[in-house]
Amino acid sequence: MRSTTIILTLVFLAVSLSTSALANPDHVLKVDPSSLGPEVSSLLYGIFFEDINHAVDGGLYAEMIRNRSFEHQDPVEGWFAVFESDCKATFSIETDRPLNKNNTKYLSFEIQSDDKLISLSNDGYDGIPLKKGERYLFSVFVRSDEEYNGEIKVMLVDTKGEPVAEKSLGTAFSSEWEKYSVELQPNESLDDGRLIITMKGSGKISFDMVSLFPEENWNGMRIDLLEMLEELKPAFVRFPGGCLVEGDSLENAYRWKDTIGPIEERKTNYNLWGYHQSYGIGFYEYLLLSEHLGAEPIPIFNAGMSCQVRGAEYCPMDEMDEWVRNVLDFIEFANGPSDSLWGSKRSELGHPEPFNVKYIGIGNENWGTEYHDRFPLFREAVKEKYPEITIIFSGPPSYEGASFNRAWRWARSNGIEIFDEHMYAVPEWMLRNTDRYDKYDRSGPKVMLGEYAAHAAGTRNTLQAAIAEAALMTGLERNSDIVIMAAYAPLFNREGWSQWTPDLIWFDNTRVYGTPSYHVQKLFNDNTGDVIIPSSLTDEDIEIIGYWFKSLYHVCSYDYESKELIIKIVNPWPEEKKLRIEIGEEVQITGKAEMISITSDNIFDENTFQNPDKVRPKTVGMSDLSNEFTLTFSGNSVTVLRLETTGL
Ligand code: AHR
Repeated sequence: MRSTTIILTLVFLAVSLSTSALANPDHVLKVDPSSLGPEVSSLLYGIFFEDINHAVDGGLYAEMIRNRSFEHQDPVEGWFAVFESDCKATFSIETDRPLNKNNTKYLSFEIQSDDKLISLSNDGYDGIPLKKGERYLFSVFVRSDEEYNGEIKVMLVDTKGEPVAEKSLGTAFSSEWEKYSVELQPNESLDDGRLIITMKGSGKISFDMVSLFPEENWNGMRIDLLEMLEELKPAFVRFPGGCLVEGDSLENAYRWKDTIGPIEERKTNYNLWGYHQSYGIGFYEYLLLSEHLGAEPIPIFNAGMSCQVRGAEYCPMDEMDEWVRNVLDFIEFANGPSDSLWGSKRSELGHPEPFNVKYIGIGNENWGTEYHDRFPLFREAVKEKYPEITIIFSGPPSYEGASFNRAWRWARSNGIEIFDEHMYAVPEWMLRNTDRYDKYDRSGPKVMLGEYAAHAAGTRNTLQAAIAEAALMTGLERNSDIVIMAAYAPLFNREGWSQWTPDLIWFDNTRVYGTPSYHVQKLFNDNTGDVIIPSSLTDEDIEIIGYWFKSLYHVCSYDYESKELIIKIVNPWPEEKKLRIEIGEEVQITGKAEMISITSDNIFDENTFQNPDKVRPKTVGMSDLSNEFTLTFSGNSVTVLRLETTGL
């Protein structure tokens, strides 16, 4: 009998193919298109957005100045003032005549020596990256109380203080706050530039909202990071957190109304991850982003209680109106007509068309009586006014155990529509629990797995973690009649500024890379198909020191438009596996196929700034396949096969 081994190109072989029946496989995968499984949820793979690890400020938000409005806990964080020797001058943070009621602090200089130079500098986050010839938009609010009589200049400088761009803001300044804007175009590229404002004169001069943006941005967002999200093509965006929504106390809980409108009027907030948020990306921008990505926006609202893991502050039941109103007003803001109170604000911001938000979440990682008492207040108010909105109920931080089971009991007996589960687990747990949702009650609430990630040793973004997530995802997909949404968490990590690992995407000022988990998310999302095709594996269960695993993890689906059968195979074991695939006659394989696989030499391999593509998908074309063929899947691999068919 003819045995053909198609030599797969590329540096290593993820899979090798033999059409021989004598190939003596380790397992047989039977794909049975005679009956169809559930439809794959069109919302299955989304993203979860939270400003943690400087995902937004110092990240997606393209603002280059740190602490532009002097509102941080330490109001001079990020700022340095340098005085020429013998200069008679002082500087202070003041609050008596603020820019507006939300922007309460500003920086003032009192100067008494005309001929000495004072400079105020900011180096952003690890320096300000500048590209020669590109345009940067600088703006600042200035006020002169006791008439200041000198010139103010703004410059972009290198680490030695040598300017690469410079403009004058003038010599006469009003006694009322006035905004100055200039364009700066560096004549040199710098990795670690600085912004400097210089003064030479005497009098009193004050500054607020010192801002620098690259001209190249999308609604204030960094293009390279945005592109990473675009490539993921998420089906939904859950935002703005996370614990961030809850706050350390109700005082710094997330209030969406603080995050819309002119940026100088947004009330900044100290976030629970230990840094200040400018809210430069607020609810309106999250809605724009979702729209841009073609994703369903899923805003999460505080349930009138701060983070329970951090000691919980509960809003008294008779004062819950603020929190409930917060949600009702948001729905009007997002969906209401342009002549409604909140809809008109959206319209003024430039979006007269409603955003058509369909889902909202009440609470994050909340549980117990306090939550069960408060949740119905939101539900009743929302359903009365907006019955079309689906409300997501928050699960506790745990994904099993007493509190988790109690929450599910409450959810089932209280008609909850969608239950938000969170799952941060070791890879072995994920491998052992890929059948978790096979057992879920189909008549109860649907599941949004709103946050999950495999936490491997050292919480590193290894191939091992990504493989475990892929295995879990075969179970999500197979059960996407019940698990209708899922998102990896957290999304971003700014190198050196992080509070939480692992994360999906790492970046610094100029570089960005996707982790192996990112590639798995993208691979699965690019290859969901429309309907699950039942499949089964011989010798599926294996026991390892008393624990049960699968010898291979798999899921099959069918894509009606492209007429392709999609088979996903995850081999989390070091040994390669020879797999015979037998496809029922209800579909006919034409012979042509594409195979995309992710693997690497070592299961602990990671991507890094130095080697961002160490672990990434590789695609090969295949031909001459039939309804039965044998493939060898390399150890530690995730593979998607797209097999062309004549139709289903
Ligand atoms: O994703 C990081 C945090 O993990 C989220 O803020 C919270 O919901 C969970 O505990």
